[in-house]
Amino acid sequence: MSPVPSPCIEIKPVLPADVPAIAALAREIWQATYPGIITQEQIDFMLEQRYGHERLYDDLEDAHKWLDQAFVDQRRIGFAFSEIYKGEFKLDKLYIHPDLQRQGVGGRLIAHVAERARRLGHPCVILAVNKRNTAAINSYRKYGFAVREAIVDDIGHGFVMDDFIMEKML
Ligand SMILES: CC(C)(COP(=O)(O)OP(=O)(O)OC[C@H]1O[C@@H](n2cnc3c(N)ncnc32)[C@H](O)[C@@H]1OP(=O)(O)O)[C@@H](O)C(=O)NCCC(=O)NCCS
Repeated sequence: MSPVPSPCIEIKPVLPADVPAIAALAREIWQATYPGIITQEQIDFMLEQRYGHERLYDDLEDAHKWLDQAFVDQRRIGFAFSEIYKGEFKLDKLYIHPDLQRQGVGGRLIAHVAERARRLGHPCVILAVNKRNTAAINSYRKYGFAVREAIVDDIGHGFVMDDFIMEKML
């Protein structure tokens, strides 16, 4: 049997014209990820809060935020958003389409974001991940993140984020 070829991964900045496609991709990946972790009501609330088109256009205008998207064989399959948050460099969102998970795309996006943090002089990259999102926690550990603390963050409307804060030293 011939070996499976590794995918051709391209990382590009998100542009305003990409916003509807990013929002749709986010919904598809969230629906494949979060049922069983958070309620459907919380999924809908958080998608609207974080991926509403106006919110994404605002993010693109923000000098302290970076929105990167990944393509495999020219298909848009994932994205990573990073930002300066309370003085630290944060990987704020990392989502890969289920069809292409476990093929190294998440790792490539983490490396891309970590390189930006290093260039800007930050000593580490932090992120927040739901305590029950075991697959993601495993992948962050694989790429050098360790749990720094456990938090419960009230995000309004009766919802909380029950997260680990993880950090990767650079
Ligand atoms: C978590 C995620 C971003 C990782 O990206 P990826 O491209 O799949 O990851 P990579 O191929 O670079 O690394 C794979 C590692 O991630 C972990 N992993 C990813 N998906 C997994 C799964 N379904 N089950 C178990 N481990 C998984 C494993 O540690 C795996 O390493 P291995 O294949 O050597 O065992 C991606 O799987 C994803 O988008 N998941 C759903 C959305 C999500 O939970 N995002 C994070 C929110 S904080």
